[in-house]
Amino acid sequence: MNKRVLVTGGSGYIGSHTCVELSQAGYEPVIVDNLSNSEKTAVEGIEKIIGKKVEFIQADCCDTEVMDQIFSKYDFDSIIHFAAFKAVGESVSKPLDYYRNNIGSLINLLGLMRKHNVKNIVFSSSCTVYGQADKLPVTEQTPRKEATSPYGNTKQMCEDILRNCANAYPEINVIALRYFNPIGAHPSALIGELPRGVPNNLIPFVTQTAAGIRPMLSIFGDDYNTPDGSCIRDYIDVTDLAKAHVCAVNRMVEGRSKANYEIFNVGTGRGVSTLEIVRTFEDVNNLKLNYKITGRREGDIEAVWADTTYANNELGWKAEKSLDETLRSAWRWQQYLDSKK
Ligand code: NAD
Ligand code: UFG
Repeated sequence: MNKRVLVTGGSGYIGSHTCVELSQAGYEPVIVDNLSNSEKTAVEGIEKIIGKKVEFIQADCCDTEVMDQIFSKYDFDSIIHFAAFKAVGESVSKPLDYYRNNIGSLINLLGLMRKHNVKNIVFSSSCTVYGQADKLPVTEQTPRKEATSPYGNTKQMCEDILRNCANAYPEINVIALRYFNPIGAHPSALIGELPRGVPNNLIPFVTQTAAGIRPMLSIFGDDYNTPDGSCIRDYIDVTDLAKAHVCAVNRMVEGRSKANYEIFNVGTGRGVSTLEIVRTFEDVNNLKLNYKITGRREGDIEAVWADTTYANNELGWKAEKSLDETLRSAWRWQQYLDSKK
């Protein structure tokens, strides 16, 4: 049986963890990444964890000719498409780069899937498609809200492209996973998130502040309509998230999809506030964080967390790690990075 999976963006944060889980589940990941937001060291980390070599090709998913050759050479069974630009703020100032890369790469892959008769694709979507939902937690049926950034818009557009293609081409199977907030690192601390420059996301900012790389963490607002006034998110351990991809590929390969376009929320089902994250991080790692409350960040939504019933029942997947464990792994990863300097 052909177990070869094309993993675009496989040296990135979520992709690298997914390659580990795929390999441990008996699949053969083939990474295509242009290293625009990752390092080759991630591939070495994957190889150390799984104890064998991983196929890595440095290439751009938007390059039709090169990707065509890769599809010819490898005869993939399934694709997991992580490759995309993901910085919300940057997407506002560079919308064309985001549309070109995020939409262009997907269209390219879909064309090549048809040409090379590849049936299955998992797509990295985001809970950003829900915006500030009227009712929480959000289910897959919760209506999407108009995107507030070009990045968010690319996720909505990609979902639409996939839905239209699934409708037009019944032979293809699509699963869109809507990730909530992925955090943490592999328990081995051999792979993790590699933010470039000043981190935009909470956890890398927290760990860099704890490490003394940043003087102070800003908590963006304590006047939201939440129990402690700070924003609420659904923080999902990246290894748990990675496992959801294996479940999605299994479902398609085994022909268990109920329709050829399916969407699943991938979160823990629990909302946690920014201040709770800070306190838990301090407690479990036995340290004090330098932080201050500042004004709200433009574009932030107040609260979102997932109803994961559908993923739990249908995908047979459930988030397992505790927040304590995940925040310990995030700190171990930061310490590993610092030890390499
Ligand atoms: P990441 O930046 O770590 O990984 C993306 C990888 O794709 C990088 O290694 C980058 O070099 C590569 N890449 C980008 N454009 C490429 C191209 N044209 N050709 C080849 N490689 C290319 O990001 P991540 O956090 O691992 O996110 C993976 C996916 O999940 C993205 O689609 C992202 O939008 C989505 N997502 C992420 C989050 C999050 O908070 N991290 C939340 C929701 C959705
Ligand atoms: N926050 C701070 N201080 C910081 C950074 C973040 O207080 O220095 C707060 C934010 O206000 C927010 C929470 O921490 O309330 C989480 O912020 P992140 O930037 O880590 O994550 P977001 O929820 O804003 O967005 C992330 C990704 C998006 C993705 C979304 C849903 O950046 O790309 O999760 O998956 F769409």
